[in-house]
Amino acid sequence: MNITKTKSERGLNMIKYDDKLKIFKLDTINTSYIFGLDDEAGYLCHYYYGKKLESVDVRYLSRLYDGKYLPGVNARDKNGFSDVAPFEFSTGGIGDFRPHALEIVDKNGSIACELFYDSHRIYEGKEALTGLPATFSNKKGDVQTLEITLKDKILKLAVKLSYSVFSDTDAIVRSVKVINEGSDSVNITKIMSLSLDLDNEDFDLLSLHGSWGRERTMEYRDLGHGFTGVSSQRGVSSHQEHPFIALTSKNITQTEGSVYAFNLVYSGSFEAVAHRNQFDLVRVLLGISPYNFKWELKPGDEFIAPEAVMVHSFKGLSAMTTAFHELYRNHLIRSPYLHKKRPVLINNWEGTYFDFDTEKLVNIAKEAAKGGIEMLVMDDGWFGNRFDDNRALGDWKVNEEKLPGGLKELVRRVNDLGLKFGIWMEPEMVNPDSDLYRAHPDWAFEIPGRDPSLSRNQLVLDITRQEVFDYVWNCVESTLKSANIEYLKWDMNRALCDIYSAGLPADRQGEIMHRYVLSVYKLQEKLITTFPEFLLENCSSGGGRFDPGMLYYSPQIWTSDNTDAGARLLIQEGTALIYPLSTMGAHVSVCPNHAMGRNTPFETRGNVALAGTFGYELDTTKFTDEEREMVKEQVKTYHKYNDLVREGDYYRLASLRENGVYDAWMVKSKDDKEILVTFVLANKVCNVKGRKIKLLGLNEAYKYVDEETKVVYGADVLSNAGILISDMWGDYQSKLIHLTKV
Ligand code: GLA
Repeated sequence: MNITKTKSERGLNMIKYDDKLKIFKLDTINTSYIFGLDDEAGYLCHYYYGKKLESVDVRYLSRLYDGKYLPGVNARDKNGFSDVAPFEFSTGGIGDFRPHALEIVDKNGSIACELFYDSHRIYEGKEALTGLPATFSNKKGDVQTLEITLKDKILKLAVKLSYSVFSDTDAIVRSVKVINEGSDSVNITKIMSLSLDLDNEDFDLLSLHGSWGRERTMEYRDLGHGFTGVSSQRGVSSHQEHPFIALTSKNITQTEGSVYAFNLVYSGSFEAVAHRNQFDLVRVLLGISPYNFKWELKPGDEFIAPEAVMVHSFKGLSAMTTAFHELYRNHLIRSPYLHKKRPVLINNWEGTYFDFDTEKLVNIAKEAAKGGIEMLVMDDGWFGNRFDDNRALGDWKVNEEKLPGGLKELVRRVNDLGLKFGIWMEPEMVNPDSDLYRAHPDWAFEIPGRDPSLSRNQLVLDITRQEVFDYVWNCVESTLKSANIEYLKWDMNRALCDIYSAGLPADRQGEIMHRYVLSVYKLQEKLITTFPEFLLENCSSGGGRFDPGMLYYSPQIWTSDNTDAGARLLIQEGTALIYPLSTMGAHVSVCPNHAMGRNTPFETRGNVALAGTFGYELDTTKFTDEEREMVKEQVKTYHKYNDLVREGDYYRLASLRENGVYDAWMVKSKDDKEILVTFVLANKVCNVKGRKIKLLGLNEAYKYVDEETKVVYGADVLSNAGILISDMWGDYQSKLIHLTKV
């Protein structure tokens, strides 16, 4: 056993190693994560994750030290050990009958893998994960990393577990690298980025489920015995289930109760599982979906699994949310727009769908300019023979019938009106009815001899192949360079199936789903390095690929095609549970809403969209006089509050999902000077005398004045009694309350 101490280990103190006890202790601001080597063979066992501890020696928590279970003491029953040991990184085939994190098929066809400690290093900062999105250090001293090398001597396999701890957030991130040090190839058939063994504390499982138009809705379920979890096998993180699960205490609130939350920095198929075994031990696993996954690891090769994020709060959901928001704002999103106001945009999709031309767009822009809108985004339909959604994806040449003079002419005219110009593309796709498909039918995913399943009449391009990748990149690059384009909405409108790539042999087809995601990342990396000042908004039929992986490349993602203010309350609640408000694409659209057929007041549509990036998605030439005036007000309101909304601390105050009547949230500036409360009465109840909404996160010694009423409140009253929202007349009424510190 070779235990090394590095220089930085002595310098920084978020990660400590106790040489004598062989214990690693990771301390965030409020939590501790402790694991170590059992003093016999060198298995790495988990001891504790919870509220920050002073104590280090908590080995007894593993229950292995009464001797009964340790293989050296009880060799005749090693199985009894393997099936209860809280392994820090679990493996298959050796008698741990719980689901495990790593499955390696060796040359004999066996899946057994047993990992023992080899060495470790602790260093300041954090190394990048080649080819993958990952969190990073922003300034000296803000991150410390522990890398532990485990080995299976029979397989000649090294497994490096990395843990990074941040000085400014209660999150810990983990990743796994597997290196083949032998002379035979092996296949990885399952690799989870995170394996965590906990004792059950009567947990519920919280997940974010959904559908198109209904993304990321919070849902709780009982954690029974056996498997509970969520997954995507669609090649994208998906509308349906989200790469996030949390174990919560029963009836957790925003401020009370315990939560262990896990999020994967990945945009493809995933699996998130909590398994409760016979002894009420719970194992959490999170990583790439093992479905259709098999990765050949040749001698000398390494495989890096995506990063997983862990957050523990013992003070309810709110502290968990803060930890995720801080991590993503400070250590994940790289865009120059991260801390900037995004231009208020008008997107023509719901306004015109495919039925537009230069004149129509210029007229929309003209009207938009009057209201103070700052950018026109031309959505789907500007290229090839794209008069509807049946054809032309892949043919990224301007349709001059619609746009005579091409993009240059349109963009010039829009710029002359004082607006920036943005464009929509769906680079990963092709329609069978396209020049591209006619020229290269083998470039789309199709299984030889089998008709592929179409979705929206389109197929997915096999960008794992270099020539396809190059074509796609050239289309994106030449489009963006062809005129003064300052924003791109990168869309992706179908899931992956019929997976077969002509680029790899039959026995390596199991690599394609992951290679696809890596190619998406490579394209996006190329995009943001070629156009560093650019504003990128990712999208996937609304919010089908809204995940931390994509946030590494784009500071905002289109949250949902459902722009109904009422439906958005639930979608934005679930999304903001982990993602900062500054990342949520949110627009005002017309009524009756195109997804829901529901009418909501224009003012409320604005107030709900203000919680995100803010913009419009309608035909501005059809505004009523009243709406035209309201737009001016809304744009002013956006400019007034966006710094606060984008940079402040978000707190969920009430949930329509829970109470069925109203929704409320607030944002407080980091310097405590300003608070914005948003209240929406979704379903009016007759004869109610107003409601008290208690604010969160306040320093109770302060006083605040309500800008509208001029009433001065003590923060203690606002926190413990609440602010009074008088009753409103009608469904979907809303109110913004702006409080400033006196
Ligand atoms: C997807 C997007 C929409 C719009 C259409 C265009 O559905 O989510 O916002 O861009 O594609 O086809």
